[in-house]
Amino acid sequence: MLRGKKIIVGITGGIAAYKTPILIRLLIKQGAEVKVVATKNAMEFTTTTTLETVSKNKVYNDLFAPTNEYNTEHIALADWADFMIIAPASANCIGKMASGIADDALSTLVLAFNKPIFLCPAMNTNMFNHFSVQENMNKLKNNGIIFIEPTSGELACGVEGKGRMEEPENIVTYITSQHIASYGDFENKSILITAGPTYEKIDAVRFIGNFSTGKMGYALAEEFARRGAKVTLVSGPTQLSVHHPNITKISILSAREMYEAATIHFPDSDVAILSAAVADFRPEVTHNEKIKKSSDSQTMDIHLVQNPDILASLGNMKKDNQLLIGFALETNDEVANAQKKLTKKNLDFIVLNSLQDAGAGFGHDTNKVSFLYKEGKIEHGCLKSKSEVAKDIADRVKNISNF
Ligand code: CTP
Repeated sequence: MLRGKKIIVGITGGIAAYKTPILIRLLIKQGAEVKVVATKNAMEFTTTTTLETVSKNKVYNDLFAPTNEYNTEHIALADWADFMIIAPASANCIGKMASGIADDALSTLVLAFNKPIFLCPAMNTNMFNHFSVQENMNKLKNNGIIFIEPTSGELACGVEGKGRMEEPENIVTYITSQHIASYGDFENKSILITAGPTYEKIDAVRFIGNFSTGKMGYALAEEFARRGAKVTLVSGPTQLSVHHPNITKISILSAREMYEAATIHFPDSDVAILSAAVADFRPEVTHNEKIKKSSDSQTMDIHLVQNPDILASLGNMKKDNQLLIGFALETNDEVANAQKKLTKKNLDFIVLNSLQDAGAGFGHDTNKVSFLYKEGKIEHGCLKSKSEVAKDIADRVKNISNF
């Protein structure tokens, strides 16, 4: 499964580092080439001889070592590898990654690395549960770092609880089954995704918007890019950024701008997934100056006109070899309403979100969705992280396509 893959194994200071040579052996047994980058503290728990013997390569642990081929080793290593596994990842390593600190060979390499990074945390339970470690992990997760969660059990410090590094066998199984197996799913395919809210200007300082954060659409963009697709992400205003180099982001403000970008890119797309929360209406008139309060009126009327329905327009343009997927956000009669949208907008399937489900919808990191297919089949999902929902959607696109 890992034949030809080039992997950097990062090691930080923790007792679990004694298991890392086993991890390296397993990766090599599967056909990977491994280079090791270790911190100074990691070398308190394992040895250069062990790591060099199992990896069959020299160990990098000094940014300025005279043996380095040239002084931008971190860039050369970042270019060389397909992905990186840091095992064990200490609280210190996680904190430095979350803050962008680059003060040794491993942390410098991490900043130069724009490919998948898997982190296998290992630490004392109290450290693991500490709010700062949890916050740092959430920040990294939201920025595309993949965590292989520690397990519970007796830790080296004698305490029982969560914090034990996942076993090397399980780390390899997780990476190969959940990630590597799907890497080429959408190779040479173009995917169009819309995400986030649209803002409809009222005057120079005000707009009509909605609570969408764009998290679902950005998770989709990362997932399809990770599986090899060329992704065009048309995004309304959000706080989010994209990470994968295969994603081209087009930032727009209004529904009409989103419509223009989507209709330009759709003809060249194999799949379009419209997850944006598009404002259905916009003010008919936009004022260039700030509207002032009038002293003789307690009310104000804004006349709204309908925006183009982007999804329905793409449904009209759709060719037989294209797939079109929409979302439906409903508060009542969910399935019936979603079914109507599925048919009316000429979709292959629709992803139904109900605002009645706790933890689902705007702003949450989790989502609970159902899938309704044009043939009539319905699948109900459970509450999952938005990146897991993105995986489920990508799996379904793969299943119904002949890619
Ligand atoms: N959509 C779109 N353009 C619009 C409105 C919606 O592309 N002007 C897309 C959304 O991105 C989503 C789907 O259509 O994929 C359904 O959006 P939703 O807001 O649930 O439904 P509407 O079609 O707007 O219908 P209603 O607001 O009446 O429920």
